[in-house]
Amino acid sequence: MSAVLEQPAVRVRPMTEADLVAVMAIERAAYEFPWTEGIFRDCLRVGYCCWVLEEAGVLRGYGIMSVGGGEAHLLNLCIAPEVQRRGLGRRLLRHLLALARYHGASTVLLEVRKSNRRALRLYRGMGFREIGLRRDYYPAAQGREDALVLARRLAQAPVGGTGAART
Ligand SMILES: CC(C)(COP(=O)(O)OP(=O)(O)OC[C@H]1O[C@@H](n2cnc3c(N)ncnc32)[C@H](O)[C@@H]1OP(=O)(O)O)[C@@H](O)C(=O)NCCC(=O)NCCS
Repeated sequence: MSAVLEQPAVRVRPMTEADLVAVMAIERAAYEFPWTEGIFRDCLRVGYCCWVLEEAGVLRGYGIMSVGGGEAHLLNLCIAPEVQRRGLGRRLLRHLLALARYHGASTVLLEVRKSNRRALRLYRGMGFREIGLRRDYYPAAQGREDALVLARRLAQAPVGGTGAART
């Protein structure tokens, strides 16, 4: 009898410029105040960790993170609205945390809108804790909205690394 191993349907891989059309479609659908394509291009150009999550070859989400000086900063994490709440955001976040550790970060920081309850639940569930508040950080439909600053400490990477690929 031979066992047939199915390929995992979900895969996380580095973002390329060719992904930007699909990335922008998700960005515009998911955020009221989306990033411009130029911001994503800049993130790729300066060498930030830019990753996409694909499901059966279809781009479903992405994450952008900068790492330096022992700290990582999660700048964007987004899953296409039609496939949210299926564990993809958590999966991508886990990957980015492993990557941050691999690159020598001991802390991961991020900002999130105070009103973004879904994201706050995800981050708190993944060990992030509130460490501060940035007043009027984000544009909002009426005026500005505060950002909560969240942080999570990372355990030391095991000798030999985590297996996460380098960007
Ligand atoms: C935040 C976001 C990335 C979460 O991705 P996701 O794939 O939907 O999340 P997951 O299915 O992995 O859920 C992980 C946890 O997040 C929380 N969560 C996600 N969606 C939620 C919802 N609609 N209501 C309440 N909690 C929710 C839950 O704690 C969930 O764990 P559980 O399902 O075991 O209860 C996604 O909602 C998104 O892309 N939102 C728009 C962009 C955004 O706001 N990004 C964050 C910017 S800081």
